[in-house]
Amino acid sequence: MMLGPKLLAFSAALLGCPFGVHQITRGTSESDFKPLSRSDASFCNGGLQVSYPDLDISKCLVISREHLLREKISQEWGAPRVRLNTVDKGKKYALMMVDPDAPNRSKPTRAHWRHWLVVDIEGASLRRGEVRGTTLSDYSPPTPPQKSGLHRYQFLVYEQPANQRLILTKMETSSLGNWDPQDFARKFHLGQPVAAVQFLTQNHRD
Ligand SMILES: *[C@@H]1O[C@H](CO)[C@@H](O)[C@H](O)[C@H]1NC(C)=O
Repeated sequence: MMLGPKLLAFSAALLGCPFGVHQITRGTSESDFKPLSRSDASFCNGGLQVSYPDLDISKCLVISREHLLREKISQEWGAPRVRLNTVDKGKKYALMMVDPDAPNRSKPTRAHWRHWLVVDIEGASLRRGEVRGTTLSDYSPPTPPQKSGLHRYQFLVYEQPANQRLILTKMETSSLGNWDPQDFARKFHLGQPVAAVQFLTQNHRD
């Protein structure tokens, strides 16, 4: 069963933004990036700002040619900075990063791959771009296998209901693969994501 399109569909239904101009950072050129297809771009909404040291992925983009950036994302950089300045200072938020294309987009038998899951993030800290909370899954960088094509890496922020304790089951913690983010959101009454963004990349040797 393909879970990717479902996740995409419910997020797209939420706001359905057209794709914006992708952000270019120092040392890179326009041709290193491509905007996402219309349907992939519709995933991005809510103004979520996600940035790695030399790469701002706040706007939906494909890292199409810049192999060095692909390599840095996989091997050098830790967790990105995540900022959302529309959140309520007094509320708590959950952040997840998933790959719906594990091991590849045409047959994602291991989807979703859970790359990062932090809950109980105070709105005030998310406004400052600090992901400080209870880490349920440590950040693991995008490492798409060789010859597996482009993978989507999706970041989603949910508002947590007050006094709701979010946890992973033993079964869920036993593997990063085959995780169902929608099931997690449903179980803890998280509703729709308040913001989401995704970027595409592939193995740096391809
Ligand atoms: C995609 O993954 C499936 C399932 O693991 C595998 O059988 C198939 O060969 C892969 N296809 C490509 C193009 O890598």
